[in-house]
Amino acid sequence: MKQFDLLIRNGTVVTASDTVQCDIAIAGGRIVQLGHDLGSAREEIDASGKLVLPGGVDAHCHLDQPMPDGLKMADDFESGTISAACGGTTTVIPFAAQEKGESLRAAVADYHRRAEGRAVVDYAFHLIVSDPTETVLRDELPSLIRKGYTSFKVYMTYDDLKLNDREILDVLTVARQEGALVMIHAENSDCIAWLTDRLEAEQKTAPRFHAIARPMAIEREATHRAITFSELVDVPILIVHVSGREAVEQIRWSRARGMKIFAETCPQYLFLTASDLDQPGYHGAKCVCSPPPRDRANQEVIWDGLADGLFTIFSSDHAPFRYDDPQGKQPGGQEVPFRYIPNGIPGLETRLPLLFSEGVGGGRISLNQFVALTSTNPAKLYGLHPRKGTIAIGADADLAIWDPQREVVIRNADLHHAVDYTPYEGTRVKGWPVTTLVRGKVVAHEGKMQATAGHGEFLPCALPEMAKPRYRTSGGSL
Ligand code: URP
Ligand code: ZN
Ligand code: ZN
Repeated sequence: MKQFDLLIRNGTVVTASDTVQCDIAIAGGRIVQLGHDLGSAREEIDASGKLVLPGGVDAHCHLDQPMPDGLKMADDFESGTISAACGGTTTVIPFAAQEKGESLRAAVADYHRRAEGRAVVDYAFHLIVSDPTETVLRDELPSLIRKGYTSFKVYMTYDDLKLNDREILDVLTVARQEGALVMIHAENSDCIAWLTDRLEAEQKTAPRFHAIARPMAIEREATHRAITFSELVDVPILIVHVSGREAVEQIRWSRARGMKIFAETCPQYLFLTASDLDQPGYHGAKCVCSPPPRDRANQEVIWDGLADGLFTIFSSDHAPFRYDDPQGKQPGGQEVPFRYIPNGIPGLETRLPLLFSEGVGGGRISLNQFVALTSTNPAKLYGLHPRKGTIAIGADADLAIWDPQREVVIRNADLHHAVDYTPYEGTRVKGWPVTTLVRGKVVAHEGKMQATAGHGEFLPCALPEMAKPRYRTSGGSL
């Protein structure tokens, strides 16, 4: 009788702290032994010459999120998670978004219906709080947090989602009371609207003006304001999708004051610049996202922040809209002024290879930092560790087996999302995840799906240790 379900032999096993040669024994979907000469299994994978990493945890992606104004996200839980799996990601955390006037519980129930039976990798939900009524603050939010929805995003911009300062303080107060983590989209809405109106008055409506309407100063101001809220309420926050120097400086300043301000960045701030919004015709719409990509000097600032620990996590912010689609980047079939272009770019499948190639291959971050930023830290930050995000006895056998020598030219035709473009078309990378396992089952191998929709399970999240307050306030007793 064979002892294990699966043995992964001869690989180099990498975690956030260690790199070791050892075999991995898997039974019942979990890692049960690490070592040498472990015995026999019903199946074996020979990982000679390969790296065995914890599967990626993409803690910021948008899948099948209901959209206003006839827009539609291209990826649902099936295509999105297939794409994730083929890119070495084994857990995704998309957003159950509350519409204004809607109950938060109803938004969560609706989102479960969208996910159920479709995902191939495991998933948890963040919440998006867009209408913090008394009922939401006193009843719905606390009760959802206790049921495993322990993180939520608030927006300082976008008319259909944004909260005012007072509302954000109220949401942060609930997070502090309950031990949840708030993610903040930090851009100053009024400044964007003012700049947009001025640009439109001068007929400056092409996609490239999106970046001009959202300069770094408005991200800096909002980041500083969010940090101030965190200080007043004495609760840690995460600033999502940080784009460049100005926001980075604010976060460094807050850290130097001992504050628990976490930060996330994304591939678009390393591999794209504002000039990618200035493509012939309307093609720049493909790279319209917020905050917008900046310039080469700012890319270096982001690389420095990844290398020196300023950034805790590296996520895709996959927000999939097809280019040639009336429900996507050309709403109603038109090339529209930039204010109407849906924000967001695809990136679930390319997140890890891009960072691996340029970050690890380019000598900017170590392999262990790569694992920390893309898997271990997001699992810790959102209450999924140690079940997810590491290779350890008892952890889920969520693994990505990488060929560090594999050279790939990224082509949209080879990706598995339902978007009709990738902003990284033609980019050469070295290193690619060839086999991805979720709870011990191979879900993707050499770009082919090996699992059926529904293999992915919902993960309730624990209260994140990292969200604990410092128990200091500058704003009086709360
Ligand atoms: O442009 C972006 N980032 N779109 C997705 C929504 C968000 O703000 O994360
Ligand atoms: Zn955002
Ligand atoms: Zn996002």
